[in-house]
Formats: sequence, structure tokens, C-alpha cells
Amino acid sequence: MQIISLFITLIAIVNGVFIPNLSEKCFRCLCHVTGCDMAHACTGGYCGPFYISRLYWTDAGRPTLPTDDPDRIEAFEDCTRDYYCSLKTIEGYMAKYGKDCNNDGVTNCYDYMMINYNGGVDCSPPLYLSPRGLEILSKFEQCELAN
Ligand SMILES: *[C@@H]1O[C@H](CO)[C@@H](O)[C@H](O)[C@H]1NC(C)=O
Repeated sequence: MQIISLFITLIAIVNGVFIPNLSEKCFRCLCHVTGCDMAHACTGGYCGPFYISRLYWTDAGRPTLPTDDPDRIEAFEDCTRDYYCSLKTIEGYMAKYGKDCNNDGVTNCYDYMMINYNGGVDCSPPLYLSPRGLEILSKFEQCELAN
């Protein structure tokens, strides 16, 4: 147990990232709200199951598939079309922008959903203000209840 937690701590330090509450379940719910279509390529500049934009990927530190080069023009598409590379991208983005968007005193998956929807710069606008936001909210609640 201790060895495992030491290992996890070391990984967190090596990557320079520790993001509270960005769990496996949270990733599943963030994916669910965008439809989680593993076959989705890119539409309108948004790629993969999470509909990630190039700007988001760049802000996330341009993670790539193993051995790929972030300067390669298709590195963005190939990473964000891959589920695990998408997780790395979201981790990188939340390491930079993760915070308590709705001011409820905790930083959790709800906040990460708001950040993915509003962007990291000002994640505070409530999701119920727009039809698309309401749709995201209802899918998120579905996922939270199912897990
Ligand atoms: C993570 O989520 C739990 C449950 O919502 C909460 O109690 C905890 O404070 C959160 N962690 C942080 C750093 O906000």
C-alpha cells in the first residue's frame, strides 16, 4: 500500500500534475456529456470522443501519442482521437485551469465539466443559461447517477 502510494506520488511529481477529483469516473462522465463516440474523428475543429479543439490541446501542453512529435501537423488530431491521449490532454488542461468554478468550496468533476464547456479563462457562467448547457448538465447528471 505504502509503496503504491509512494509510486503515485512520484508520478505526480514527475509529471508536475496533481488534479484533485479528476478520477476515472469523472473522465467517463466528461466523455458521456459529449456523446463519447470513440469513432468520432474531427468536426468543425473539434476532435475525438471529447470534442477537443487545437487551442485546448495547445493549452494542455500538446500531449502526443507515444513517440509522436507535437510539431507534426496531425499530432493534435491523432492524440485527441485516442481516448487515453485525450485523458492526458484533459489532465494537462486542468493542471493549468482547474478550479472551483461554481464556488461551492470543492474542486470536483462538476467544475471540470464547466471548464470543458466554458473554457478555462472564465469557467463561472452557469450551464443552465443555454440550451446546449442544459443538455450537457442533464447528461452529466445521468452519468453521475449511473456510476
Ligand atoms: C474532491 O471531492 C470531494 C467530494 O466532492 C470533496 O470533499 C473534496 O474536498 C474535493 N477535493 C478538493 C481539493 O476540492
